[in-house]
Amino acid sequence: MRKPIIAGNWKMHKTLGEAESFFDSVKDRLPNAGRADTVICAPAPFLASLAGRAGDGSPEIGAQTMHEEEKGAYTGEVSPVMLADLGVRYVIIGHSERREYFNETDESVNRKTKSAFGHKLIPIVCVGESLEEREGDKTAEKISGQVRAALEGISAEDAANAVIAYEPIWAIGTGKTATSDMANEACATIRSTLADLYGQETANQIRIQYGGSVKPENIAELLAQPDIDGALVGGASLEPESFIALAEAAG
Ligand code: G3H
Repeated sequence: MRKPIIAGNWKMHKTLGEAESFFDSVKDRLPNAGRADTVICAPAPFLASLAGRAGDGSPEIGAQTMHEEEKGAYTGEVSPVMLADLGVRYVIIGHSERREYFNETDESVNRKTKSAFGHKLIPIVCVGESLEEREGDKTAEKISGQVRAALEGISAEDAANAVIAYEPIWAIGTGKTATSDMANEACATIRSTLADLYGQETANQIRIQYGGSVKPENIAELLAQPDIDGALVGGASLEPESFIALAEAAG
């Protein structure tokens, strides 16, 4: 069925030396790649070095965002061509922090998702509701709308390779994890939206992660849920032992 995928999102943490030493210490200690995929989404300045260190037994490399254009006068931005050229395989698109602090919208998320597929990068598309939306019973409407907008104009063939990350905003970095039932209910809503867009067979191939205060202590229960295929992990992905424990729970 769907292979679990554990992705660490380091956000704006670590120096190059710390990133390299993390990578060298987890390499070869992860579960067999045939059982679970592992990814480190590192800050842009570390991607070349980590991609150069990656190989059999190591995590794959992901970026935390990208611009949708191949090149141009976009000071400070990183293009999909640059990422693919380095050997980066995944890219997080539309993380709630990007939406909140860097004006990313459903429309820009859609453009970036299309561009990622166009450059053979696998997008990890983030969706999730705020606390206010959850309390107003708007969770399903919000996440289903974000999924539809992100994937508009994308073929079933590409969509089958996408990873969707359900991250309730109120659970990110707060220590408050959604219960496994709540997380699964939202992931099931995402899968039924995908089935509506592409048919059940394609929807069954798309991996859906949960993210929001995932740690070694709670990951097993989350992964045991039928519609949760992995995790997008912030804080608990920063230490090698913790990342290995998360990967072992998946593989
Ligand atoms: O991308 C990862 C998420 O924002 C979750 O972060 O595990 O620190 O709550 P967290």
